[in-house]
Amino acid sequence: MELRTLSRLAAPAVAALLALTTGCTGDTVQGRPGASGLRDPYFPRAGNGGYQVDHYALDLDYDPADGQLHGTAVITARAEQALSSFNLDLSGLNVKGVTVQGEGARYNRTGNELTVRPAEDLKKGEVFRTEVDYSGKPKALADPDGAEEGWITTEDGAVAVGEPVGSMTWFPGNHHPSDKASYDITITVPRGYEAVSNGELRSRTEGTDGRTVFAWHSPEPMASYLATAAVGRYKVTTGRTPSGVGLYSAVAPAEEAASAGPLGRLPEMVEWGGGRFGPYPFASTGAIVVPAGTLGYALETQGRPVYSGAPSADLVVHELAHQWFGDSVSPKSWKDMWLNEGFATYAEWLWTEDHGGPTAQERFEAFLTGDTDVDEDADKDWAAFPPAAPPGPQDISADPVYYRGAMVLHRIRQEVGDERFFALLRGWAEDHRHGNASTADFTAYAEEKTGRDLKKIWDVWLYGKGRPA
Ligand code: TRP
Ligand code: ZN
Repeated sequence: MELRTLSRLAAPAVAALLALTTGCTGDTVQGRPGASGLRDPYFPRAGNGGYQVDHYALDLDYDPADGQLHGTAVITARAEQALSSFNLDLSGLNVKGVTVQGEGARYNRTGNELTVRPAEDLKKGEVFRTEVDYSGKPKALADPDGAEEGWITTEDGAVAVGEPVGSMTWFPGNHHPSDKASYDITITVPRGYEAVSNGELRSRTEGTDGRTVFAWHSPEPMASYLATAAVGRYKVTTGRTPSGVGLYSAVAPAEEAASAGPLGRLPEMVEWGGGRFGPYPFASTGAIVVPAGTLGYALETQGRPVYSGAPSADLVVHELAHQWFGDSVSPKSWKDMWLNEGFATYAEWLWTEDHGGPTAQERFEAFLTGDTDVDEDADKDWAAFPPAAPPGPQDISADPVYYRGAMVLHRIRQEVGDERFFALLRGWAEDHRHGNASTADFTAYAEEKTGRDLKKIWDVWLYGKGRPA
């Protein structure tokens, strides 16, 4: 019913009609549209308002030969307000149909927004199921910093990496880290291909139609940028860490030899991380090593990071540390990236300190003096901007977020001593486990947990401009 039509009717008739079309009487709240973005300071249109997702069931069918993806996304969410319509983020692809609560829904698309108008308004608090059927050839996106993300094709398949907003290239969703959900990702591929995703492989079924169906299950909450799917001819290794975390790694055959050493240490690294940061937050671990040159970076996709070519041991430690810092404790907004990258970089410093390499103090000093003999990255421009306030969206993965972020943590350690510092790291991971946190949450928590006033560190190292004296 369009407004144009309504305006031609007399007022009482309009009221009666509204009651009819919404199926409710005057005392029921009329739904209103959910917001089309969550007003993230760097990616204002990412995510959507008015609901929170509990679960995504993605059923994907991918053929590497023609690059066509056929998908069904079943999204179970809870309305946080009465909704007449709501948005999902989706980039490219063709939507073939949308249902809400099993009934056909109207929808339209503008830019990366898919607006869904259910046949009936949703009540505040209502748990509702949306099914989106879609297909097409997914396209990668260029980030503000020029990096490629989203659905990336490889020589024999594809891999999905979604930081910060690339996941909208392969499934519709509430694509902002503040809305975490559990996932079931089922991928059907031609026989001979592997399909790898997050979590645990529930089943692998060879169909009679020459296709293989891989059903992946992620019970722990996951931010959508950490969801992945990789299709290709991979060598798969499975196992278990000493403390019982399931291991599943998929490595491109050409990268197998060079990956064996670093990835062979993953079980040991998981145990080490448990000792330093508290229990590993997920039921499984592993790696996806895509052909070298596919991407210009690695990504900490949940439980199973994606590496472009064989990783170094330091990189495996970095992506492993993200499982606590970034994946389990996720940023509230993209401004909080240093909570991911500063912590993961500091974890690398701790790993070398614990394994006969330079200490974190030595690496901190190397950055102050630019000594690349101690740390090959020590001459990077870590002082270009304050880690807690990147100038713009093109800076959220820039050097200060990583290196000066790590230096912030080392300054805290210098101030409070090892015992309090490591209790802080563990406490932070434990108290925000599987949740979201902001920089303000961290600074308040650090002062409370250590019992110290750390304002000078925040002012100078976290928010201050230029090189600290
Ligand atoms: N978060 C990734 C890591 O540190 C790196 C990363 C992801 C990245 N996307 C990026 C770096 C885009 C530069 C540009 O492991
Ligand atoms: Zn990182």
